[in-house]
Amino acid sequence: MRIYRLRQFGLEHLILEEAPSPSPGAGEIVLDVQAMSLNYRDLLVATGQYNPKLKLPATPLSDAAGVVSAIGPGVTRVRVGDRVTSHFVAGWLDGPFQQEYVATTLGTPGAGLAAEQVVLPAEAVVPIPEGYDFAQAATLPIAALTAWSALQTVSKVGPGQTVLTLGTGGVSIFALQLAKALGARVIITSSRDEKLVRARQLGADHTINYRTHPDWQQQVLEFTGGVGVDVTVENAGPGTLDRSLKATRAGGTIALLGALTGRQGTVTTGLILMKRLHIAGIMVDSRAVFETLIRFLVENRLRPVIDRVFDFGQLPEAFRCMAAGQHFGKIVVRR
Ligand SMILES: NC(=O)c1ccc[n+]([C@@H]2O[C@H](COP(=O)([O-])OP(=O)(O)OC[C@H]3O[C@@H](n4cnc5c(N)ncnc54)[C@H](OP(=O)(O)O)[C@@H]3O)[C@@H](O)[C@H]2O)c1
Repeated sequence: MRIYRLRQFGLEHLILEEAPSPSPGAGEIVLDVQAMSLNYRDLLVATGQYNPKLKLPATPLSDAAGVVSAIGPGVTRVRVGDRVTSHFVAGWLDGPFQQEYVATTLGTPGAGLAAEQVVLPAEAVVPIPEGYDFAQAATLPIAALTAWSALQTVSKVGPGQTVLTLGTGGVSIFALQLAKALGARVIITSSRDEKLVRARQLGADHTINYRTHPDWQQQVLEFTGGVGVDVTVENAGPGTLDRSLKATRAGGTIALLGALTGRQGTVTTGLILMKRLHIAGIMVDSRAVFETLIRFLVENRLRPVIDRVFDFGQLPEAFRCMAAGQHFGKIVVRR
């Protein structure tokens, strides 16, 4: 079987190699990967920005869907032939988040999924939603579940509320689709007008080009009658956080999940307390919440927005597409 290995950091060092088919140990399965999706985190892993001390060679990617081809001793939860998708925080099955779950995330430090066959804990998969193909299912584990966590775990978005989401990448487009399905109004930003046109077609109520309107929080306030939004899906991080604080209503929630502008910066803490804002850090979510999300997707007939599909041999090219910010929604690599 073919497997990608990162010999050194950098996309030019992401090499496709041959390896023997893996065998599952106790409590494990083998997943025959049919499709994988890219997340910004995977790009950071591959370029050494996520963990410069990562032991190499390593196999990147955290989201994949496929068919269970073997099960190890003691596995009763899934059967050979099941169509499943991966669950990112493999050890977080239900209940509140615990610090030790960080060590169980797929795509480092857990198994990387950029391979034709991967061994996973049997607990770290969920059935593919009814009516979804492998490519669609592979988009869900990180981006969709993170957007859902922002809208339903750390807040309870519903009719009459307004959501702001930044950019038009994987998480943000899921946030747009899910917030609309939950009955909310949605404001979305982008650096490109053509992407904002696509966002409107998906139901966005108000769109802002953050390049041509660097003070975009003013437009958010105008659109919300000077009040601000109920929930901001903060995909970008320190470079935008202060504007998000201004764009969010008193008592509102900022789902702080992104690092597109880095992982450190200054913040006007006075705004947080004077507006009694809730800043909620997000680390994807549990398997139980993933299953709830899947029921919602099926009930609401929602389908992921896949911008481009690359062949298995084109993973470095798929990463370059993501790095260039050319995409709208998700990028998929199919076997
Ligand atoms: N904490 C968690 O659990 C969690 C889970 C998933 C993702 N994340 C993080 O969330 C972020 C988004 O991930 P993703 O996979 O959705 O990324 P992605 O698909 O690569 O999306 C990136 C998009 O974000 C927009 N963007 C870039 N810089 C921006 C800025 N300064 N202001 C507003 N928008 C900006 C751009 O959209 P336009 O081209 O439209 O401008 C870009 O195309 C990443 O930092 C990722 O690491 C965190």
